[in-house]
Amino acid sequence: MPLLAIETSCDDTCAAILDGPEILSNIVSSQDVHDQYGGVVPEVASRHHLELTAPVIASAMIEADVGVEDLDAIAVTAGPGLIGALLVGLSTAKAIAAPRELPLIPTDHLHGHVAANFLAPDPIEPPFVCLIASGGHTILAGVREYGGFEVLGETLDDAAGEAIDKAARMLGLGYPGGPALERLAAEGDPDAFTFPVAMSRDPGLDFSFSGLKTALVYRCRELGEDGVEQSRADLAAGFQEAVVDQLVSKLRRVIDRDGWPLVALGGGVAANGPLRRAVTELCDERSLDLKLVPMELCTDNAAMIGSAALHTPALSFPDYLGFDAFATGDRR
Ligand code: KG4
Ligand code: ZN
Repeated sequence: MPLLAIETSCDDTCAAILDGPEILSNIVSSQDVHDQYGGVVPEVASRHHLELTAPVIASAMIEADVGVEDLDAIAVTAGPGLIGALLVGLSTAKAIAAPRELPLIPTDHLHGHVAANFLAPDPIEPPFVCLIASGGHTILAGVREYGGFEVLGETLDDAAGEAIDKAARMLGLGYPGGPALERLAAEGDPDAFTFPVAMSRDPGLDFSFSGLKTALVYRCRELGEDGVEQSRADLAAGFQEAVVDQLVSKLRRVIDRDGWPLVALGGGVAANGPLRRAVTELCDERSLDLKLVPMELCTDNAAMIGSAALHTPALSFPDYLGFDAFATGDRR
């Protein structure tokens, strides 16, 4: 029976229809409006979600050839994320579910990034370790069951994607900066500038990206406007390499410490080519299995929320009417 999943935790308005782990449709409408501000403006995001949720849900249902009367349950991201943006998705989900007395499945966004790995056609099974690197989070997740994960390490300051977006902005690229920084870096020499790989001597599994960002600020200051203009590609390449090195070194450490048999990635930064290549090399070296979810399932989407919902307890009508979204914490 089909499940409708809705995701509005940040600046992408997403809806998907799933039949078990099978994706029947997965629609993402990205809000380009934030580009002019160099980052997501929460109130602007909420207002755009208000306009976009209905047409995005309609597109997902048309593409899947599913009517509202066919739906079995509604899954929705309950957090973490921007509270106003989350409330639009949650209220929409309640408005569709309640009149039909359908169950509602409030889902954790980060569990969604892990659960993208459970989707057809190549689902994986726990146990595995999953590096989640997105605009809001950087987490090493130990996944021993479908229904949740253990945080083994996380960033102490900026998320990897947040640092990448800020670096991209310093180099005159638009928002979100990840794909543009990756393209620029491909033309540069990563060894032209040295950037610190933070936490490399720290024996733990936590990350830190704010020092790297500051290092780029200082480099740009030293070079001056013209110097930065001439060295943009080299700066992007060096910065990207330092981010990838830190992510991969912590992943290596947790694999060597715990002996995980299988490695997976999640979150928008997992779409990064050099990161995917470095993780592939690491897994080859250690003879480990690796699951690389397709790019469109790395960045925010609703299919991953539907996948997490398959392993999350549903709330029955009318118990969910008072259920609230959460901006931070409450990980499953
Ligand atoms: O998971 P996601 O779509 O949204 C959040 O939950 O935050 O991740 C978005 C982040 C942004 O910071 C974006 O710049 C980054 O993922 N990103 C990338 C790439 N594609 C997206 N970072 C590096 N390389 C990419 N190709
Ligand atoms: Zn995300």
